[in-house]
Amino acid sequence: MIVHIKQIINKARAGNYAVAAFNTSNLEITLAIVRAAVNKKSPVIISTSESAIEYSNVLTLFQLISNVANTIGKRVPIAIHLDHGHSLQTIKECLHIGYSSVHMDASEKDFSANIKLSHQAAQLAHTHGAWLQAELGSILGKEGLVKLKSGRIKMKDLLTRPEQAREFVAKTGLDTLAVSVGTIHGAFRGREKVDQPRLRKIRELTNKPLVLHGGSGLPAAAYCLAIKNGISVINIDTNLRLAFHQALLKNLVKSRELIDPRKILAPSVQAMQKEAEKMIDIFGSKNKA
Ligand code: G3H
Ligand code: ZN
Repeated sequence: MIVHIKQIINKARAGNYAVAAFNTSNLEITLAIVRAAVNKKSPVIISTSESAIEYSNVLTLFQLISNVANTIGKRVPIAIHLDHGHSLQTIKECLHIGYSSVHMDASEKDFSANIKLSHQAAQLAHTHGAWLQAELGSILGKEGLVKLKSGRIKMKDLLTRPEQAREFVAKTGLDTLAVSVGTIHGAFRGREKVDQPRLRKIRELTNKPLVLHGGSGLPAAAYCLAIKNGISVINIDTNLRLAFHQALLKNLVKSRELIDPRKILAPSVQAMQKEAEKMIDIFGSKNKA
C-alpha cells in the first residue's frame, strides 16, 4: 500500500538495513517490483525518472503505480519517488500529484547554485508535506566512464566531499542526501568501488539518510558495508533492465511464433521479480514490511 517515504526510510535507519528504490516506466516493471516486495514481505520505493514520466505521462504513471501498490501490494509499504528531477517545474508537478518524495538533481551546477535550487525544492516539497532528496558530487553514466577511462576526468574529483556535505545539508534543508562515493549509473562489474571511509565520514558529519545511486553491478559485500556506513536507500535500475532484456531475447528465440504481448513479456516480468528479490535479500529489508 502506498505510504509516505519517511515511514519506510525512518524504519530502515532504525533497523540498520536499506530499502531498494527500483525504477519503473511501465506496468510490467511495476508488477515485478510489487510482486517481489509482497513475496519478500519487504518495503520498497518505486522511482520514476523524468524520461519515464515523458514515456507515458506523469499522472498515468503515478496512478498505475498507486493502483498496483494498493491492490497487489496492499500488505507492504510502498512509496513513490521522483528520481533525478532537473527542474522546479517537474518537482512542482510531482508534488501536486501526490509524490511523497522528489529528487532535485542540481549536481551539475556549481556548489552555490546547487544549494540555491535544492533549497527552493526543499521548501516546495515541505509545503506539500513531502521529502526532498538533493545530490552533491557527480555520479557518472556510460559517457562519463569513457572520459574517466581516457583520463579526461578523475573519479576523486567527482566524489562528495564530507565537509561540503555538512554545509549542503544545513543550507538546503534536504531530507535525504544522494552521494557520489564511487558508483556509476549502469552495471560495470568490477569497475565500481565504493569509497567506504568517505561514506562513513559523510554519515558522521550529516546525520541524514544517505542514498546510493548507480546501485547496479556491485558485489553483495559492498552493499552490506555501505549500509553499515550510512546508506538507507539503494537505487537500482540497470539490474532489472538486464534481467528484462535477457529473458526477452531467450523467450523470443525459443518461441518466435508468440504474438500475445503478455506471453512475450511474462518471462521478463518473472526475471525482474527474481532480480528484485535478490536485491531485497542483500539489502536486508526482507520481512520488514
Ligand atoms: O537513479 C537511478 C539509479 O541511480 C540507478 O542506477 O542503473 O546503476 O542501477 P543503476
Ligand atoms: Zn541515479
